[in-house]
Amino acid sequence: MNLFGMKTELINSVLDGDSDQGGVMPALKSTLSKADVNDIFEYIKSINGRVMK
Ligand code: HEM
Repeated sequence: MNLFGMKTELINSVLDGDSDQGGVMPALKSTLSKADVNDIFEYIKSINGRVMK
């Protein structure tokens, strides 16, 4: 699976929340912007080259 292709979907899960995975991911758009979430994902990429290549 190419996680990079899912990046927009993952960012939207953080901004809008998601309850499809057995728990409730809270919507964070009141505290984080799309650019903030993108920065967090870029940071994760920078410390683990196998994530979202
Ligand atoms: C910047 C990235 C993220 C942050 C800061 C974040 C933050 C959080 C926090 C604080 C909770 C706990 C909520 C609570 O118990 O009240 C949570 C739960 C959860 N998050 Fe995220 N999350 C992020 C990314 C993601 C992504 C990308 C996904 C899915 C693709 C995800 C899926 C979930 C799920 C399923 C839970 C519920 C877990 C459970 O209750 O068993 N999260 N997240």
